[in-house]
Amino acid sequence: MTGNVLGERFVVMSFGESHGACVGALIDGCPAGLPISVEDIQRQLDLRRPGQSLVTTQRRERDEVEILTGVFNGYTTGAPILMITRNKDVDSTSYLKLRDTPRPSHADFFAHVKYGGFNDWRGGGRFSGRVTVTYTMAGALALKLLNVYLGIDVIAYTKQIGELKVTRELDIEEIKNNRYSNEVRCPDPQLAEQMRDLVIKTRGKGDSLGGIVECIVINVPLGLGEPVFSSLDGDIAKAVFAIPAVRGVEFGAGFSAATMLGSEHNDPLGYIDGKILPVTNKAGGIVGGLSTGANIVLRVAFKPPASIAKPQRTLNTSTMREEDVVVTGRHDPTVVPRAVPVVESIVAIVLADHAIRGGFIPPVIKVR
Ligand SMILES: Cc1cc2nc3c(=O)[nH]c(=O)nc-3n(C[C@H](O)[C@H](O)[C@H](O)COP(=O)(O)O)c2cc1C
Repeated sequence: MTGNVLGERFVVMSFGESHGACVGALIDGCPAGLPISVEDIQRQLDLRRPGQSLVTTQRRERDEVEILTGVFNGYTTGAPILMITRNKDVDSTSYLKLRDTPRPSHADFFAHVKYGGFNDWRGGGRFSGRVTVTYTMAGALALKLLNVYLGIDVIAYTKQIGELKVTRELDIEEIKNNRYSNEVRCPDPQLAEQMRDLVIKTRGKGDSLGGIVECIVINVPLGLGEPVFSSLDGDIAKAVFAIPAVRGVEFGAGFSAATMLGSEHNDPLGYIDGKILPVTNKAGGIVGGLSTGANIVLRVAFKPPASIAKPQRTLNTSTMREEDVVVTGRHDPTVVPRAVPVVESIVAIVLADHAIRGGFIPPVIKVR
């Protein structure tokens, strides 16, 4: 399979470039009978949309989804579903001058060489954060499927921006209800205010910030995952790495497991509300590549975006001389707030795929 396709049974093909006619997703394998509306998809897309506040790029896209096939009378038909969003607010002028002086740590130069100069470089083309519209559209469908049929909820939020991080224990209801109540998507209102100030201050200095998105999946049945090469954690990690600017993924205790003792890290089994479940969750809900029935908990680290206003050294690939480049145009000072719904979406796609593969969701669902 090519690099633009994700999944075995809930199969998503992502297509489109940042400044081309549209971006879109073709989804094959979605069961028939799922009630779905444009609003269901639009709701998730609106959470990712740029230009909504000072902490994002000022590119103003309305990101209106069009569902062109596979839905009839408000239900999925079992046929492939094509969704697109037309690119409207396109201004490629600032990218023209980057042709000879590639932005450090963006994909411009590497894509140019790999595709012999034929790649669409406008707005970063296929390497733009804009491709995440396609994951979000397909993910909104997957979220609805998981929620309607299995009661699964995928809840992500901003855990950290720069050095500012959530340190207190947050209740799942608090995260669920508050995560989208502010621009930075942090459920702690005081910290959210500090994060917002930090992003605006950093942007003012011509710089950018990284951070961490935490994602919690609740009501997961035991047994999703197909070891060994399609372990649930492996497939989630691979999919999450399709989000541009991702630098790391960890589950449960993650990297801190390396310094724990077995007695500290082990999750004993218990009998909770009539179910056999791990009493603690250092594993983050996945053991042996299989979901355990506990919440899946993962954290995704994002780098600071490459496009910063500060002058940076780069190579002029025409003259072969080093020179300064100043990146103009409209860019995100941090990708973290906009990545929150994208992480939810891509995790949902993988879970929907595994739920169908594992027989947890049938080919026709009846929820009328
Ligand atoms: C929602 C979102 C928005 C992004 N916006 C920008 C941006 O405005 N400027 C930028 O340089 N990178 C941005 N990125 C990241 C780049 O697309 C990414 O760093 C680049 O393609 C290189 O890939 P890599 O960082 O995964 O190696 C964004 C990523 C996401 C997920």
